[in-house]
Amino acid sequence: MNLRYTLSFLRIMKIPGLYPIMKDWQGFIRMHFIYAAYESGLLEALATPRTRNELIEELDGKRPELFDALLEVGLASKELAINNGLFHIRGRRSKAVMGTNGDMLAAMIQANVTYYSDAYRNAADRIHGRELGDDLARIGDLVARFSKISEPIIKNFISGIVRGRNPLRIFDIGCGSGVLLKSAFDANPLASGVGLDIDEAVVQQARHNVSAWGLSDRFEILHGDVRHVSREIAGPFDVITLYNLLYYFEISERLGLLQTLRGMLSPQGVLAVAMGFRSKGKDIGMANLNLVNSSLKGVTPLPELSEVTSLLKQSGLEKIEIHRFMAGSTFYGVVASQN
Ligand SMILES: C[S@@+](CC[C@H](N)C(=O)[O-])C[C@H]1O[C@@H](n2cnc3c(N)ncnc32)[C@H](O)[C@@H]1O
Repeated sequence: MNLRYTLSFLRIMKIPGLYPIMKDWQGFIRMHFIYAAYESGLLEALATPRTRNELIEELDGKRPELFDALLEVGLASKELAINNGLFHIRGRRSKAVMGTNGDMLAAMIQANVTYYSDAYRNAADRIHGRELGDDLARIGDLVARFSKISEPIIKNFISGIVRGRNPLRIFDIGCGSGVLLKSAFDANPLASGVGLDIDEAVVQQARHNVSAWGLSDRFEILHGDVRHVSREIAGPFDVITLYNLLYYFEISERLGLLQTLRGMLSPQGVLAVAMGFRSKGKDIGMANLNLVNSSLKGVTPLPELSEVTSLLKQSGLEKIEIHRFMAGSTFYGVVASQN
């Protein structure tokens, strides 16, 4: 290699900021590769090593040059490797996406490449007044899959609330994947109740999961808007849960909602809220969620923790317990009851 070229390359690398941006860019390319490899079925097809031609046939590829380009990014990012003409998955991330918690990890990547990215791409125009995004109706299934990321935290939170309760009838509002109901049942097998979600695709997902967990006789999953609770959902409930939900309601609607829910609680019942709150620049995950929420129609910016505890008190739930889940994070749990 010519020394002059090496020196000019080193000069380029001295451009302030270039090295860290290039490192970030590599991560960005890798994430996009995994997205494309997952969506196209490439990762699934690589459950067993395959030649390029076998892959093209299996995925019904019509543009071999584009497929080759994708394989090349896979090799260059070290997510794929090739041995004796057979491609296989090499990278930790791609392996994990096809592993035990793969669905949640895939959803995380899908969210980042699609509506998260869209929020930043359009932020400049939207700050100047362009219409907010209307993706919410299309992304419900993805949001519910991604929300499973906090399952271990929520499992702990909910088991502290339900353990030892008898009777235990639960109303999980905005139930998403239904994972919270499963966590409640794992902690207390007396648990039964209702999961409600406004999004039809999410309801299908929750019903499928509840049935796969063998809990269909315990939990009914209903389709509907909690603002218009149907007669099918008869209280009283011992535990009502709002997990990652309150920011789906306008500020003006929240007190009315909490008052209605308080009226559905049994005398010893509790209302449990778990969600991300405003981070004031201290929690990048919540700051990101707040930006995404502020970019979409149908959701609001994240509230402050004090706003929510004050609303709970105004609704008549005077006894408030705050659970801080992680140092450095503004993801909190709040348990509210009448006494
Ligand atoms: C961010 S997801 C959280 C899902 C689940 N609680 C979890 O964290 O895994 C919020 C869910 O609330 C549902 N939702 C929003 N507004 C609702 C309403 N008015 N009534 C019932 N469900 C609602 C959405 O469809 C979505 O599935």
